[in-house]
Amino acid sequence: MSPILEINDLKNRARRRVPKMFFDYADSGSWTEGTYKANENDFSKIKLRQRIAVDMTNRSLKSTMVGQDVAMPVALAPTGLTGMQHADGEILAAQAAEEFGVPFTLSTMSICSLEAVAEKTKKPFWFQLYMMKDRDFIANLIERAKAVGCSALVLTLDLQILGQRHKDLRNGLSAPPKFTPKHIYQMATRPLWCLGMLRTKNHSFGNIVGHAKGVSDLSSLSSWTAEQFDPQLNWNDVEWIRNLWGGPLILKGILDIEDARMAARTGADAIIVSNHGGRQLDGAPSSIEVLPSIADAVGDQIEIHMDGGIRSGQDVLKAKCLGAQGTYIGRPFLYGLGADGKAGVTKALEIIRHELDVTMALCGKRDINSLDASIIYPPQGLQN
Ligand code: FNR
Repeated sequence: MSPILEINDLKNRARRRVPKMFFDYADSGSWTEGTYKANENDFSKIKLRQRIAVDMTNRSLKSTMVGQDVAMPVALAPTGLTGMQHADGEILAAQAAEEFGVPFTLSTMSICSLEAVAEKTKKPFWFQLYMMKDRDFIANLIERAKAVGCSALVLTLDLQILGQRHKDLRNGLSAPPKFTPKHIYQMATRPLWCLGMLRTKNHSFGNIVGHAKGVSDLSSLSSWTAEQFDPQLNWNDVEWIRNLWGGPLILKGILDIEDARMAARTGADAIIVSNHGGRQLDGAPSSIEVLPSIADAVGDQIEIHMDGGIRSGQDVLKAKCLGAQGTYIGRPFLYGLGADGKAGVTKALEIIRHELDVTMALCGKRDINSLDASIIYPPQGLQN
């Protein structure tokens, strides 16, 4: 077996182990996938300043995100259907993150429920919330997140309506998945994946099924999700959530300076500069392109995080230099999970940590918290 040296190696292995429709679900963006690709490509336009003959001993990657200690400033992003990349996917990823010392964020659209993940982990994890029209369901979900001890709430604001991903439509993937003979064939060619699925009880959307009104099984879930994302979501709802939750609140999906200013006024603890991994507004700029202008505008009022396109420790370093206190990875950990379960997620984190550490040293820096734009070109990033 070829060695796993970079995130792309995990991606190639996941492609061989995960049924095509679920691999494609992770490896896809909306419409032309232009924004999805730009997220990755734009990182390579930023260059690093090499330094020599400086003391590179005693380096530290330790930092904080919303005041919580992290082994490095990289959290696992919320991703739906993670339990379809690998059986018990959310539990395994949460365990890997916990052992590594970085936050894991459980999606509203996860397969394993809040309670199932809490039962198999020791430390608090984060929870991501989608605003649904059924506010009683939302209030109850927040209570459940509190009851299991979640230590931050990530409120996603960029999915009031769904972006369209051609790959999912071509593969006939729906939420919940409905299996045709073609799907069954795809799964049968991935025996290890099938074996895991046969062994687990976590097959349905555990945060929703049995909790939302009228959703008792997978078939009733389909119509519920289709009509529940709230197109009327507004800043008053954010305030309602903030009061109900009462803990650290992170607003996800900010890509515009005006929205960043509004978000800063809500009293939330952090914003995530994000275009949902290129899965919503195709044609929107990459996250790394807009990060510096948003950090300039509101960085003194609210903590700035970013995600989208991070595939290496070098990318994390560039985001740090351009104003992000913390970053998130979505696909890199999903590829790890698909490739090798919990060990694969750990591998993804190890790869990024090693790359981040060595890059920082070769740029002449020893403390991740001391990084600034003086070690990149152009120093203002890609903004005009
Ligand atoms: C996502 N993302 C996402 N975001 C969110 O707030 N709730 C969710 O349920 C999901 N689901 C989801 C599924 C899959 C398969 C992907 C790839 C992404 C977006 C995610 O949190 C994050 O913003 C991006 O994944 C970051 O980009 P990278 O790291 O994947 O390039």
